[in-house]
Amino acid sequence: MMFVGDSLNRGQYVSLICLLHQLIPEHAKSMETFDSLTVFRAKDYNATIEFYWAPFLLESNSDNAVIHRVTDRIVRKGSINTHGRRWKGADIIVFNTYLWWITGSKMKILLGSFNDKVKKIVEMSAEESYRIAMKSMVRWVKLNMDTSKTRVFFTSMSPSHAKSIEWGGESEGNCYNETTPIDDPTYWGSDSKRSIMQVIGEVFRKSKVPITFLNITQLSSYRKDAHTSIYKKQWNPLTPEQLANPATYADCVHWCLPGLQDTWNELLFAKLFFP
Ligand SMILES: *[C@@H]1O[C@H](CO)[C@@H](O)[C@H](O)[C@H]1NC(C)=O
Ligand SMILES: *[C@@H]1O[C@H](CO)[C@@H](O)[C@H](O)[C@H]1NC(C)=O
Ligand SMILES: *[C@@H]1O[C@H](CO)[C@@H](O)[C@H](O)[C@H]1NC(C)=O
Repeated sequence: MMFVGDSLNRGQYVSLICLLHQLIPEHAKSMETFDSLTVFRAKDYNATIEFYWAPFLLESNSDNAVIHRVTDRIVRKGSINTHGRRWKGADIIVFNTYLWWITGSKMKILLGSFNDKVKKIVEMSAEESYRIAMKSMVRWVKLNMDTSKTRVFFTSMSPSHAKSIEWGGESEGNCYNETTPIDDPTYWGSDSKRSIMQVIGEVFRKSKVPITFLNITQLSSYRKDAHTSIYKKQWNPLTPEQLANPATYADCVHWCLPGLQDTWNELLFAKLFFP
C-alpha cells in the first residue's frame, strides 16, 4: 500500500501507521526513510505501507523530500512518470494533492524539461494546472494498474484555519487557542476552493477507471481545534516577538495525531473493505 502526495497525505499515512503498528510486535516491523520514500514493513504479513513525497504528483522544483521550501514553484507538464515509475506494483494507492497549487495566484508550468537551457514556462490558473495534474493521475492509473485486482483512492483538499474572522472570531486570530469545533453545519472556509472541488468532480465523472474518492473536506472544516498549532517541532528557534504572539507561528494546516486524520483512515477502511 502506498500513499502519494504532500505533507497532509503524510499525516494520514502516519495516522494509519500509528493505528496499526501497536498490534505488531517490535521484532516483526520496521520503518525506514530513503529520500522521498518512507517504508513501514509488517514482516509477518509480507506487507509494506509506504509514503512517497510528490506534492504536485507531477515533477516539480519542490520534489526534494527535505529542501522544498522554494518560493517560485514550477511544475512540469506531462511528467507523471518521473515519480510514477516508483509507484508501480502497489496494490493500493492513496493519492492527494492540493495545497501547493493554490499558494500563489498563478502556477508556473514548464513545457520542456528542467534541463533545458532556455526554459519554456507558461502561467496558468490554479484550476487549469490542477486539472492537468488530475488528468495525468487518472491516465497513469489507467496505464499502470490492474483495477480488477488493485484499488485507488484520492483524498480531497484538507482545510486550513488561518483566519478566525471566517468563523466569527477575532479579526487577527487563527487556529491558535481554539479548543472547540465549529458548530455551523454549513461552514466552509475560503482556503478550501470550491473551484478546485469542481475540477475534481469533473475529472472523476469522466474517468473510466474506478478511483474511490475520500471527500474529507467538509467534515474536517469544522475542526479549527484539531491543528498542530504551536505544538509541533520548530525548525528554527523562535524569536522573542513570536513567543510574545504565538498565533504568528501556529500551524493551522497540519493536524495533531491522534486526531482528525484517524477519521480519514476509518473512512478509507470502510471504503476499502466494504466498497
Ligand atoms: C512477498 O511479497 C513479494 C512482493 O509482492 C512477493 O514477490 C514475494 O513472493 C512475497 N513473499 C512471500 C513469502 O509471500
Ligand atoms: C485563549 O482563549 C481563552 C478563551 O476564549 C481566552 O480567555 C484567552 O485569553 C486566550 N488566550 C490567548 C493567549 O489568546
Ligand atoms: C465533497 O463534499 C462536499 C460537501 O459535502 C460537496 O459540496 C462536494 O461537491 C463534494 N465533492 C465532490 C467532488 O463530490
